[in-house]
Amino acid sequence: MSRKIGIGILGCGLMGGIHAECVARERGAYLVGFQNRTREKAEALARRFEGRVYGSVAEALRDPAVEAVVIASSQQAHAEQAIAACRAGKHVLCEKPLALTPREMEAVARAAARARRVFMVAHQLRFHPVIATVQRARRRLGRSFHLDLEWGLRIQGAGGRCWEDYRSGGFFMELGCHLADLARHLMGDVRHVAAGALRLDRRRVTEDFTHALISFHGGAIGSLVVSANHRTLRQGLLRGRLLGEKGRIDFTVYPYARAFNTATLTLDHGKSLFVPDTTVRPLAFPRPRSLFRVYPGFYDVYQRQMAAFLDAVRRGTPPPVTLDDGRAAVGIILAAYASQGAATDRPNLARKAPAYRADAACHPSLA
Ligand SMILES: NC(=O)c1ccc[n+]([C@@H]2O[C@H](COP(=O)([O-])OP(=O)(O)OC[C@H]3O[C@@H](n4cnc5c(N)ncnc54)[C@H](OP(=O)(O)O)[C@@H]3O)[C@@H](O)[C@H]2O)c1
Repeated sequence: MSRKIGIGILGCGLMGGIHAECVARERGAYLVGFQNRTREKAEALARRFEGRVYGSVAEALRDPAVEAVVIASSQQAHAEQAIAACRAGKHVLCEKPLALTPREMEAVARAAARARRVFMVAHQLRFHPVIATVQRARRRLGRSFHLDLEWGLRIQGAGGRCWEDYRSGGFFMELGCHLADLARHLMGDVRHVAAGALRLDRRRVTEDFTHALISFHGGAIGSLVVSANHRTLRQGLLRGRLLGEKGRIDFTVYPYARAFNTATLTLDHGKSLFVPDTTVRPLAFPRPRSLFRVYPGFYDVYQRQMAAFLDAVRRGTPPPVTLDDGRAAVGIILAAYASQGAATDRPNLARKAPAYRADAACHPSLA
């Protein structure tokens, strides 16, 4: 191992801590320092991992020992911090969503193009062993024509970044951008998006249930459902179904435990209309150790993501999840918001103003 890459963490909440832990486990990197809006959280991580505390993002970016930054602040801060990091010549691993508006994303892309450093977006589900297994097995289906992804959570709160206003992105932005990225990862680029959204909890300002219908450039179609009020699915279960000419793959990814992570291949031999003529078999996938207590069912996806980022920095190669991937995922979400806002007379189940048209129009990119 030639040299260690110095990492600065910007944003020291839940994800800042997880990323710091990943860096600490990498032999080829070390934590230089921490910055957070509320200084105490940066101090806490600095004590835990032995690093410096910066009073501002600018101070962190002036530190020559910081070769790369992880942006783990709230999404409203991503674009500004990413642009500043690129201008300072740092490599960037940016939490999702990359940014909240097309203008912000364009500005980040311009800064990154000038910087010519590694810029990766944290869509860690691509590193999940179930997803890798589905990706490998899908050729057995022949041409696949439909992908269905559904992520159901039951969240009781009505405050915070998801619910208070669209200037923080909205709930579909928060979770749906992972599904949007996954859809592109499995099926390719998206051509069209149409969505309907509901606000089932009347205390919330933004939507808490979204169903987006998407079509892919290759001709396949798909559906993304993200819910914060799901009472019929296990809390946090992500369920997927891929349909192809020769069969289907059903899979589940479960963040909160190692159990319920599954993938099943069903092949249709098609000899009889009335008697099931299929073979159904579970697909084996490696079950690596779960390193993180918060999302043990993600196995070590955050660690693999960090290793991939560091590898790209070391080799000077494109990262496995690029800035354009992050941009495309946000683009799908914004298209869903736009299409939902364009639908008139759709009653809100909570029967409370503003109607969806007005909700969506609150989104900074659509106002
Ligand atoms: N990839 C994943 O699996 C995953 C999972 C969860 C979250 N995320 C994403 O990761 C990011 C952080 O989420 P989190 O759960 O770690 O949130 P969190 O615990 O609330 O931490 C966010 C941190 O960002 C700081 N911050 C908030 N607004 C800021 C602003 N305007 N300028 C600068 N700093 C600001 C906060 O500082 P204060 O202490 O002053 O509030 C807080 O310490 C979000 O973009 C979220 O969407 C990703």
